[in-house]
Amino acid sequence: MDTHGAPQDPAGRARQLAQEIREHNYRYYVLDAPVITDQEYDALFQELLALETRHPELADPASPTRTVGAPPLDKFDTAPHTLPMLSLDNAFGEADVRAFDERVRRAARLSGPVPYTAEPKMDGLAVELVYENGRLVLALTRGDGVTGEVVTANARTVRKVPQTLHAPEGLPLPERLEVRGEVFMRKPGFLKLNRNREAMGLPAFANPRNAAAGSLRQLDSSVTAKRPLDFFAYGIGQASRPLPETHSGVLGLLSSLGLPVNPDIRAGIGLEDALAYYRELHARRQDFDYDMDGMVLKADSLALQETLGTTSRSPRWAVAVKFEAVQAQTRVREIEISVGRTGALTPVALLEPVEVGGVTVARATLHNADEVRRKDVRPGDTVLVQRAGDVIPEVAGVLDPERPGRPAPFEMPLVCPACGSDAARTGEEVVLRCVNPLCPAQVKERIRHFASKAALDIEGMGDKLIAQLVDKGLASTPVDLFSLTAETLAALDRMGKKSAQNIVDAIDRAKETRLARFLHALGIRNVGEHVAEVLADHFKTLERTRRATVEELTSIYEVGEIVAASVAEFFASPEGGRLVDGLLEKGVRIREEEKPAVSKQGAAAGKTFVLTGTLPAMTREEAAEKIKAAGGRVAGSVSKATHYVVAGEKAGSKLDKARALGVTVMDEAGLLKMLEGQGE
Ligand code: IVH
Repeated sequence: MDTHGAPQDPAGRARQLAQEIREHNYRYYVLDAPVITDQEYDALFQELLALETRHPELADPASPTRTVGAPPLDKFDTAPHTLPMLSLDNAFGEADVRAFDERVRRAARLSGPVPYTAEPKMDGLAVELVYENGRLVLALTRGDGVTGEVVTANARTVRKVPQTLHAPEGLPLPERLEVRGEVFMRKPGFLKLNRNREAMGLPAFANPRNAAAGSLRQLDSSVTAKRPLDFFAYGIGQASRPLPETHSGVLGLLSSLGLPVNPDIRAGIGLEDALAYYRELHARRQDFDYDMDGMVLKADSLALQETLGTTSRSPRWAVAVKFEAVQAQTRVREIEISVGRTGALTPVALLEPVEVGGVTVARATLHNADEVRRKDVRPGDTVLVQRAGDVIPEVAGVLDPERPGRPAPFEMPLVCPACGSDAARTGEEVVLRCVNPLCPAQVKERIRHFASKAALDIEGMGDKLIAQLVDKGLASTPVDLFSLTAETLAALDRMGKKSAQNIVDAIDRAKETRLARFLHALGIRNVGEHVAEVLADHFKTLERTRRATVEELTSIYEVGEIVAASVAEFFASPEGGRLVDGLLEKGVRIREEEKPAVSKQGAAAGKTFVLTGTLPAMTREEAAEKIKAAGGRVAGSVSKATHYVVAGEKAGSKLDKARALGVTVMDEAGLLKMLEGQGE
């Protein structure tokens, strides 16, 4: 059935969602073989939750929003949990966490701060270990929360699961203690396991969580014994003895009994510190050798936990603050050197394509020689890929540095791979550059940049066309584009008469431009879209920009010494002068800045916007133009200085960040409405 089709009656949609979620629960919890990502699952779950909140009459006690996991598999013996093993509610971003904190304080009738414990959320599977008089007698999976699968023999093979508890000095061991925690697999062990499986022709596990679950839920415990499973305790079920007053006290007790407790737990901290720790964990998550899919925040006082109670599915005193998945694992096919428009040689990892946060990634920058050395990435390595700052894919680290038969460390070449000229370092720079300004790879990049959307925006000027133009000697600088004729273009590969004419027309149209676009198009080092905008705003004319001294440049807010030096150097250089004069001679004209008077009082005056996701009716570039015309500024990343985030479909971490920082989020319609208010 179509899940995104025409509006459905709420009851029908709720039934459909519940059925889908149950199917996914079964695949995840029982078969250890999910077919959708955790994010897709969360989206279905949140939709059902929202629907049930809006239509309380749909409330069904058996709904997946009110139950836990999936019923145990028949192949295992089952046993009941003394106390239900619950799940956790999810929070996506800081705003949700603040709402959780408010609920806790309201329910507890507390006006002051609540002490919390913040714990990494390990991505494995929950188990309960029952100790009687200090001896492990039973291990259960969570199952449906009420009944679990008996996996005692398997759990005994996990090295970190103690068979007997350690008796703290002078204290008798509790008669009965139910310990709860996570069985998981660390990344290096997971990779090794997968390599061995591949070598034996067995299918690889998709991720460490599936590997951990598949390994513990085995009929043959000698198989489990060979799997690199690990365990951290994070709580208790029933205990025959009075407990400490706090959750962190309980963790301390577990630790003193010889149970492994995650060392990265922060105990007894306030909300703000917990949020700061969430940001820290988020930023540092690749430094951990196990998969972490968020942070669990728990009210520390057991008395408060008691007051708050639980729903049928989850405690009201805890919440899972999830991370969005922005990392993925793949293999490096080879390392290629790309030559940028300023001659910078950048090592790039060519990857087996992998999806990272909804985008397929086949290349990832390795930045420079120092970075390659630091990360020690080599062809054939299995690596973790992440999208830094939301867009640029990069290699976060190598997962199998000890793999046998690994090639020698990667070395940067001494010559430019495109033209064979020397590659050199200038001054303090870590970057190696091709010293030949006529290097075809550099020329191609300069033209590509010049014609790009944010620069002169020449439609149809794609990479293949540019490569032909440069390789055939038809263009060696952007100036040459303006001498191209339809006949010359029509003679190129895969170019009909009509498209040749279209390109000539597009080049002609690009002749009229704005100062900011023109400055950006020149490809001055350190001058991106935003700095070009700042310069244009300050100088208003090309002539004034060209004549600006370093002092005058540095006096501009947002222009530092490095940028100022690059700009002054560019205009003083013979190549810079030739490029600018050449373009003007070819008839490139700089239009008066659009609505300079309005911009100070436009509807968006003084406001900073960030655009993210796909907008329904216009491109992000078009939206940016509109915002700028109304006096606003468009930034690339969300910060405290951001006033509005305009989010379209598939908005990613920028949207999360906006929510976390409490930045106003609007959609395209909201933006247009706001801009219409211009001049009012
Ligand atoms: S507390 C009632 N703490 O997350 C409290 N759970 O989404 C429930 N998990 O079933 C568990 N790390 O498998 C807790 N530090 C942690 C955790 C953790 C991972 C898992 C656990 C649980 C699931 C809920």
